[in-house]
Amino acid sequence: MHAPAPNASCRGAWLRLLVLALLLPGLVQAAALPQLRRQGDATQLIVDGQPYLVRGGELGNSSAEPGYLHPYWPKLRALNLNTLVAPVHWNLLEPEEGRFDFATVDGLLADARANGMHLVLLWFGSWKNSMSCYAPGWVKRDTARFPRARDADGTSLEILTPFEPANRAADTHAFATLMRHLREVDGQHTVILVQVENEIGMIPDARDHGAAADRAWAAPVPQALMDALVQHRDQLAPELSAVWAAAGSRHAGSWTEVFGTGAAAEEVFMAWHFARYVDEVAAAGKKELALPMYANAALIRPGYQPGQYPSAGPLPHLIDVWRAGAPALDFIAPDIYFPDFVRWTDLYTRSGNPLFVPEALRSVDATANALYAFGARNAIGFSPFAVESSDGPGASYLAGGFDLIRQLAPLIAAHQGLHQTLGFLQQAPGSTQPQRQRLGQWIIDASFEHEAPPQLADGLAVVIGSERQGATADTHGDASPAGGLAIQLGDDEFLFAGIGVTLTFASTEPGWQAGLLEVEEGRFENGQWQHLRWLDGDQTHQGRHVRLEPGRFTIQRVRLYRHH
Ligand code: DGJ
Repeated sequence: MHAPAPNASCRGAWLRLLVLALLLPGLVQAAALPQLRRQGDATQLIVDGQPYLVRGGELGNSSAEPGYLHPYWPKLRALNLNTLVAPVHWNLLEPEEGRFDFATVDGLLADARANGMHLVLLWFGSWKNSMSCYAPGWVKRDTARFPRARDADGTSLEILTPFEPANRAADTHAFATLMRHLREVDGQHTVILVQVENEIGMIPDARDHGAAADRAWAAPVPQALMDALVQHRDQLAPELSAVWAAAGSRHAGSWTEVFGTGAAAEEVFMAWHFARYVDEVAAAGKKELALPMYANAALIRPGYQPGQYPSAGPLPHLIDVWRAGAPALDFIAPDIYFPDFVRWTDLYTRSGNPLFVPEALRSVDATANALYAFGARNAIGFSPFAVESSDGPGASYLAGGFDLIRQLAPLIAAHQGLHQTLGFLQQAPGSTQPQRQRLGQWIIDASFEHEAPPQLADGLAVVIGSERQGATADTHGDASPAGGLAIQLGDDEFLFAGIGVTLTFASTEPGWQAGLLEVEEGRFENGQWQHLRWLDGDQTHQGRHVRLEPGRFTIQRVRLYRHH
């Protein structure tokens, strides 16, 4: 039996549908690739054509399988995340050589989209926290084809050696296949950023002592590294400059001739070879889908020497080596679990590296650190670790702080890099010194105030109540966080946002005093300022200060004036 012939208007509709169906995949594919763009001193992540501030949370290492993650999505939304930072495990992706299983990645993509979030994917490939525990069994077992690094005694370590082309080729092939898959299934760019490997680092010796490593150690320093050092000699990280200078600042020679014989020289050597390996992996991935890519580092405990910490990773004192060795990476990133957040973010930005904190300690202080990172360091993003386990005051504060960043994101992004924002944070752990900064024609002193933890039971705190059960406790200090940021809106007009910060002002014009003309508390709804109340009297200490109360997040719009 034949179907009746369609009439003309019906034919037109079918034709339009057919054209749409043919065009649609192309249109979806045509969504602009996330990319990095400079604005003044800042490097911003551009997603869908707009600067995007990552309010992130990194999943615990074994939490990314959709079936397991499913019940956590409401909590992730309640924390006001806009981005989930999630691992992709090589051993699950390529369980047999050449056979790829994308179920976990596809599930993550679907669930992230359903929950209105973007993803940063972490490639747990050859290295994860120094080790090669995520290499598939077919790699792990075939040590002849995929050799290991060796310690000084010649003992095999569970660390794939970066000196073996077969290791690099296997990792590169898997990573490129992952990126090709994303190109095919993620035309809308749910994935906005990719981390290549995880916390690379040599331990317990500063260098690999396998046969291939020994040969490379005896060879001359590669010309490309020498050229980069010579070309940037005045801008090098001071620690690298010092190692080079101590050995005579030579322009050629073996590794020991150019960098000396100690562990510091071995670390430079390993950093170069790790970087070259990662560069090949990242470049092959970018060839498939040119998303911005970075590598992260475990930081160094005070007093530790190369070999005692995961050495040679993308650490700030090695940034020049990583830049020269891995041009396919867009930046390097710190995992900040230590309390000296100001110092580490300074080290990671001092040579123009954009700041993205893919992992941070889950604590009540995380939110203050996040506000500081966006205000003071032009951060791309901030992301506490094992975010699905957030609970108690830490979770409340994170949700509150991320809500402020959500409200202010367009303004922060518009002013980043133009010397129109500040961050407020205690400058060193335990410091009681006010933080003095200049913004436009004003000097601003910030002092910090903590209060006892909120009472979770009495409903006074912002609590994600039902989410508290069953989660690992966050690291709590016994006080609320203190930190914030400022955005300069006009010569004398500012937004201050944060918690536990008191601000006093001075004019840079000699002989003139600063005064508060108006202080208004409010919030942004859909980008529009909503007035809540005028602050005067006790709330401004009778015109002497602006106070972002402890224990509660506020945004205040302030106009200053001068008198004499
Ligand atoms: C840093 C690593 O990068 C994470 O994957 C995780 O292992 C945490 N450390 C645990 O604290």
